[in-house]
Amino acid sequence: MRQKIVAGNWKMNKDVHESMELLRAIQSAPIPEAVRVMIAPPTLFLDRMAEATQGHPLQVVSQNMNAAASGAFTGEISAEMLKSISIQATLLGHSERRAYYNETNESLTKKVKTAQENGIEIIFCFGEELADRKSNKHFEVVAEQLETGLFSTEALDWKNIILAYEPVWAIGTGETASPQQAQEMHAFIRSQIQKRFGGAIAEATSILYGGSVKPSNAVELFSQADVDGGLIGGASLQAEDFLAIVNAI
Ligand code: PGA
Repeated sequence: MRQKIVAGNWKMNKDVHESMELLRAIQSAPIPEAVRVMIAPPTLFLDRMAEATQGHPLQVVSQNMNAAASGAFTGEISAEMLKSISIQATLLGHSERRAYYNETNESLTKKVKTAQENGIEIIFCFGEELADRKSNKHFEVVAEQLETGLFSTEALDWKNIILAYEPVWAIGTGETASPQQAQEMHAFIRSQIQKRFGGAIAEATSILYGGSVKPSNAVELFSQADVDGGLIGGASLQAEDFLAIVNAI
């Protein structure tokens, strides 16, 4: 059975004290066994958060990673660096990275390859913009993001891949995809995996929904057959809201 996952993406929010306080508040609550819970704090705090969560089911993941092994890439972090502080997973291709830091389907394949070679688990993010949906191109755009950004990598190790469908028009806007819209797209995504890699892999892959998930809409979203959890931005910055979403699975 595929995993149920709730991942919090803190983005560029909270200083070290606030981050540790939020971490402690999340850690103090029991995590249901059926749910895998992840948090992606600012890079600067990954090390101390990894230490603080040793032996705890909460998993700390990176928000990004460079494709290169090492070298002259000012401000960047490598797979080796992440592994050296026990970080075993990273988000890749978040829409904010695509929009503000020129990440493309093509450049993402390099990151995917590096992560796979290093045994780093990926939460691969993708999703259409509002204009794509309005012009009824959302399936086409998503298929292309998957095909070029992910599927084109040779010999994918699907054990280390989680997908996160995040329609850009729903991120941080308060506007959520309806449970029906989410289910329709998730079923399409699973069918794309099935076509390329077979039914067993399609069935075993967790597909998260992201975009204005809140305690008030999480239960309905997560009850859709092909929605296996969520990637949470704004609502992951409050322990109470985040935990309510974790418990909505
Ligand atoms: P949001 O962000 O929950 O604030 O919409 C989701 C995300 O960017 O992953």
